[in-house]
Amino acid sequence: MSTSESILVLDDANVYADKVGAEHGLRRDELATLADRTAACHDDLQKRRGADIGYPELPKDAELAARIKEAAGDIRARCDNFVVLGIGGSALGAIAMHSALNHPFHNLLPADHPARLGAPRTFVLDNVDPALMRGFLDLIEPELDRTVFNVITKSGSTAETMSQFLLARDLLRRHGLDPAKHIVLTTDPDPARSLLRKMAAAEGYVDFPVPPNVGGRFSVLSAVGLLSAAVAGIDIDALLAGAAAMDARCGTPALDANPAARYAAIQHLFYGKGKPISVLMPYGSALRRLADWYCQLWAESLGKRQNLQGNDVFVGPTPVASVGVTDQHSVMQLFQDGPFDKVLTLIEVEDATLGGTDVPICTGESEDELAYLAAGTFGKLLSAELAATRCALRDKHRPNLTLRVPRVDAATLGELFMFFEHAVTYSAGLYGVNAFDQPGVELGKQYTYGLMGREGHEPPAGA
Ligand code: PA5
Repeated sequence: MSTSESILVLDDANVYADKVGAEHGLRRDELATLADRTAACHDDLQKRRGADIGYPELPKDAELAARIKEAAGDIRARCDNFVVLGIGGSALGAIAMHSALNHPFHNLLPADHPARLGAPRTFVLDNVDPALMRGFLDLIEPELDRTVFNVITKSGSTAETMSQFLLARDLLRRHGLDPAKHIVLTTDPDPARSLLRKMAAAEGYVDFPVPPNVGGRFSVLSAVGLLSAAVAGIDIDALLAGAAAMDARCGTPALDANPAARYAAIQHLFYGKGKPISVLMPYGSALRRLADWYCQLWAESLGKRQNLQGNDVFVGPTPVASVGVTDQHSVMQLFQDGPFDKVLTLIEVEDATLGGTDVPICTGESEDELAYLAAGTFGKLLSAELAATRCALRDKHRPNLTLRVPRVDAATLGELFMFFEHAVTYSAGLYGVNAFDQPGVELGKQYTYGLMGREGHEPPAGA
């Protein structure tokens, strides 16, 4: 397994009173007030990791990574379309990875284009909208013999994913194709917990585990995210090495050395100061879907009715996904001039070019009024827009942080995944809630089963 150094920078200069004013900023000594509590969260995480908290150990599973790379090689040789069927934590990590690390127009490039890296087209279907399903069938049915489906559901019973599984299996059978050669399952290893696992044994599918101690939204570095990444040609060793590097860096409770604990403490202080909205705004398109992954992680882990003692507390920050520069011409107006209820995190990619090459804005002549643009590059313009937003937010007394990475690659993405997973675990400790359950999501699942007539499940009253 390759190793790497953690290179993510957490720049929190613009959260302090000397930058955004005393009314909305933190005092320089204020973080220290949470030092004991974050240290307790850190101790708790260290004691439980590898036991009931499995996600920090995922980067160490070299055996799984090797098995995934082997399976991915086989899949790549026999498919032109790789389709992930999953939802929530079984989909958002894969979407974030493909959008960050694949060519931005991967699926539209000719199959032999060098930027496709010999990889099939990749799809993640995380909805059961019939128009989406019909449209997808229009696309995929003619190419079914060169299509592989990866059905991902930890519980092995989620209605959305199981219905898609039934559709794919039926479609393959009707076309005279063997489902076992076209479907790969990723689910809980125990057939007593996963109906899908039980079926896997009977129907002979290739399958991968979702470790029981890794919840859906924490599973991107398990087979849940790794298989489709490896099929797309993403360097999963580098991804895992980046995550391991961030994990190692967070091996101390000290708030000036552990960026995830520091981030959690800052966010928590702002929540207590009437800023319950946490915006994540990557600059550039590559990381925009990381913000969707973050929203699920943050909302499902922290939005809780009860605390660990079982008392009603109804807590949780509201995460919001945004993207620069696009949203500078949209919600940024609200972020700058609306209620003082937000803390923003911008993600800066120092070299946002594709393949290391920036794009000159103009190589010919231009009007005088546009000379300021024509002489530059798109990378320079993106950087200027980010710097402008940081300063504008600061000047409007809006606390904002910047996460800075030198580039978007597998290692930095692995770091970002681990950073946010640790941060949300510390945050849950500060809120005094369980990061790893999701009773609200489960209630929706139970009501859906009832409404669809699943045996043993009641529909909700009055539906
Ligand atoms: O994070 C979670 O636990 C959820 O969002 C699940 O990932 C989501 O509900 C899908 O569940 P499953 O993977 O069991 O189909």
